Amino acid sequence: MKLHLYSNENSRNKSNVKSQLPFSEACEKNKTPILNVLQKHITKQKTVLEVGSGSGQHAVFFAEQFRDLVWQSSDILENLYSLNLRIEESRLPNLPNAMAINVDNAVWSKDKYELIFTANSLHIMSEKSVKNFFVGIPRVLKNSGLVLIYGPFRYKGKFTTESNAEFDNWLKARNSNSGIRSFELINTLAQEAGLVLVEDNDMPANNQLLVYAKTN
Ligand SMILES: C[S@@+](CC[C@H](N)C(=O)[O-])C[C@H]1O[C@@H](n2cnc3c(N)ncnc32)[C@H](O)[C@@H]1O
Repeated sequence: MKLHLYSNENSRNKSNVKSQLPFSEACEKNKTPILNVLQKHITKQKTVLEVGSGSGQHAVFFAEQFRDLVWQSSDILENLYSLNLRIEESRLPNLPNAMAINVDNAVWSKDKYELIFTANSLHIMSEKSVKNFFVGIPRVLKNSGLVLIYGPFRYKGKFTTESNAEFDNWLKARNSNSGIRSFELINTLAQEAGLVLVEDNDMPANNQLLVYAKTN
């Protein structure tokens, strides 16, 4: 989808666009700690695919930081309009319009990427979709590619903190298919997708940043 935000007609409303965009306070807080980990792993890659980009704040911030790579964002179709508004507004040459990707679909993209990034999406989508996320990864990840997954997880059946247990209750009350995922389940699914765990980074606010590498 190409949005023509900067046509003469739309430019009159340009100043209003930013205030109308979805905004995540959490993204503003976690983007720099995530960047610190990304900087260790983004060395000479040229392409990243982000799954579940949401408001697009991460996409804009990371595309600004890594000018030599193309940050391809994506989300389910119904979120694309506002996501692309933010992307268009950024005018970053390495941030193309977001693609429609629902991890439940067999085909995500005809292209392959060197790194896949997702933040705060696995506890929102259903467990079935989490499984589909890992089924889809090998089709779009280049050999020796990396997968970085940010969010909260539970370990050996236990939440890392009381606040994560409360967050899990809140998620499930909102949508019974959502919930903080088991680290062990994620690891099993990752292994089945040909991925090996490289790092489990403790992050602020009781989150983790898991780093996986494709083994072939
Ligand atoms: C809490 S938001 C996180 C957005 C952003 N990554 C962030 O960190 O703020 C969860 C995202 O997962 C996306 N999502 C949910 N189900 C999905 C699916 N089946 N396929 C792809 N994305 C999905 C939602 O549309 C939403 O953008």
